[in-house]
Amino acid sequence: MGDNDKDADALRRMASLATPMALRVAVTLGLPDRLVGNGAEAAQLAVELNVSPVALDLLLGHLTTLGIVEPTSAGYRTTEFGANLCADAGNGFTNILLHLDSAAGRAELAFVELAHSITTGQAAYPRRYGQDFWADLAGNPHLRTSFDQQMILRLQEQIPRIVTGFDWSRFTTIVDVGGGRGALLAAILTAHPRMHGHLVDLAPTDDEARHTFSARGLDARTEVTAGSFFDALPAGADAYLLSDILHDWDDEHTHRILARCVEAARPTGRVLVIEPVGRRRAITEMDLSMLVIYGGRERRIDEFRTLAAEHGLILDTVIDLTDQRCLLEFQLAANR
Ligand SMILES: C[S@@+](CC[C@H](N)C(=O)[O-])C[C@H]1O[C@@H](n2cnc3c(N)ncnc32)[C@H](O)[C@@H]1O
Repeated sequence: MGDNDKDADALRRMASLATPMALRVAVTLGLPDRLVGNGAEAAQLAVELNVSPVALDLLLGHLTTLGIVEPTSAGYRTTEFGANLCADAGNGFTNILLHLDSAAGRAELAFVELAHSITTGQAAYPRRYGQDFWADLAGNPHLRTSFDQQMILRLQEQIPRIVTGFDWSRFTTIVDVGGGRGALLAAILTAHPRMHGHLVDLAPTDDEARHTFSARGLDARTEVTAGSFFDALPAGADAYLLSDILHDWDDEHTHRILARCVEAARPTGRVLVIEPVGRRRAITEMDLSMLVIYGGRERRIDEFRTLAAEHGLILDTVIDLTDQRCLLEFQLAANR
């Protein structure tokens, strides 16, 4: 094969939608788990799963090409590589990230409408599903549960570095704005026994946060409010934390969130933004995901500075907390 042919082949593989969809459908049908060990015969499996035997055989054929399953004398079985797609592999692929009826698996399919997002600068999710991502979660409790699980999964390995990489001890009270299930705030408070935290998030995630704090023995130092960060936030805290919040929103909504933080933080509070900052810690693929799913993006430092300046927020420090996330600390201008 010449270089041109190799390049064309590589591009064809990159562009093909068959492989990502085959993996997602395999996981959704539970094939990697079902075919562990001795495996099964395709026709028998088709009866069990109530799917077309001919089509299932085609799917198993492509999964064989990918090395996810391998043929046996009796049918197919999951390979060692394919076992990474089993529910007990611990990577979240099966239940949280790829399953077509998980929040992440469903959201990813909005990429089919990427052209719409590129043309308009807006999210593709509502075009595909008829309502925005957050409304979809609100109307489908199983999507909300899987999204909250995904949020825990994505951050858990980074939390220790976020806790040690910044001097949280300067603050006595911190409001975690859109704090999810509270894993990050719980870790910060555990490391700083004199600090108090107040988490604000939508129902029913507020209940999950209460469970997190109770389980960590933090009831006495935490408060949880079910509410929106587009409404008034708890006032007078030393710091307002926005962890992976602003990249979910377009500029108009980001201004509204920052306005609520500033209103609550006056006169001496700080606003802390933790995000994968564009051109510094963000990955380009995630940047597109933020656009397609939420209509947001991984903003760059100068974009944050400009947005924040409208609210009298001055960028004080930028810290590279982990290989994926920075912390931006803003203080309020004295004369606002
Ligand atoms: C990307 S997650 C980040 C969660 C958490 N800060 C973390 O870093 O793990 C975004 C969070 O914003 C919350 N959220 C979305 N819209 C909200 C709103 N209008 N008011 C409050 N929270 C909201 C979601 O429920 C979710 O927990």
